[in-house]
Amino acid sequence: MKFFVDTADVAEIKQLAASGLLDGVTTNPSLVAKSGRPMREVIAEICALVRGPVSAEVAATDYDGMLTEAHVLREIARNVTIKVPLTPDGLRACRRLADDGTMVNVTLCFSPAQALLAAKAGATFVSPFVGRLDDIGEHGMGLIADIMTIFRQYPYLKTEVLVASVRSPMHVVEAAKLGAHVATLPPAVLRQLFNHPLTDKGLAAFLADWKKAGLSIA
Ligand code: E4P
Repeated sequence: MKFFVDTADVAEIKQLAASGLLDGVTTNPSLVAKSGRPMREVIAEICALVRGPVSAEVAATDYDGMLTEAHVLREIARNVTIKVPLTPDGLRACRRLADDGTMVNVTLCFSPAQALLAAKAGATFVSPFVGRLDDIGEHGMGLIADIMTIFRQYPYLKTEVLVASVRSPMHVVEAAKLGAHVATLPPAVLRQLFNHPLTDKGLAAFLADWKKAGLSIA
């Protein structure tokens, strides 16, 4: 499973990229706005830090506007992935960009039917939002299960399922059990993946024994 980080905070990305565990980055208009910085500058910096796909979302909602913005964004770096919303215009833009060889992430997917449309439009990634479905009392991970089942019936569909709106390590584990290709995690959730109290306890015990024995390696 690939791990993307869901943030436009360049300092965070720099730190996480150093771990060697980061396969890509996703941003959205809210995250870029939160950074308080010009979008082109932020995306360029992120693309210089991470080799994998970096999703940059269009703000236009009409086909022509999306394509105009997409052309500006994809000039920033080779690993820019254009993110478009799952609307009729978004999917039309997706098809056009995909035909031109541009990576596209279709976002705001909340149903299996929508995911199928994104795949048919040639999306590189489709982003189902699990947390936001959980928030309204629906079963976010059920959507991932349905999409994976459908995509498996049609091996010629090359679209990767990018699990988004992830809120906890359990979301990551459940998505991995279903075979989802990618999870995009808020930095805090990515850090939580490392944690287990028995790891801390075990390490403390090893180090205490080592110190007591007065041993050294180097
Ligand atoms: C995905 O690409 C989105 O940016 C993101 O995962 C949305 O997450 P949220 O529901 O926590 O805002």
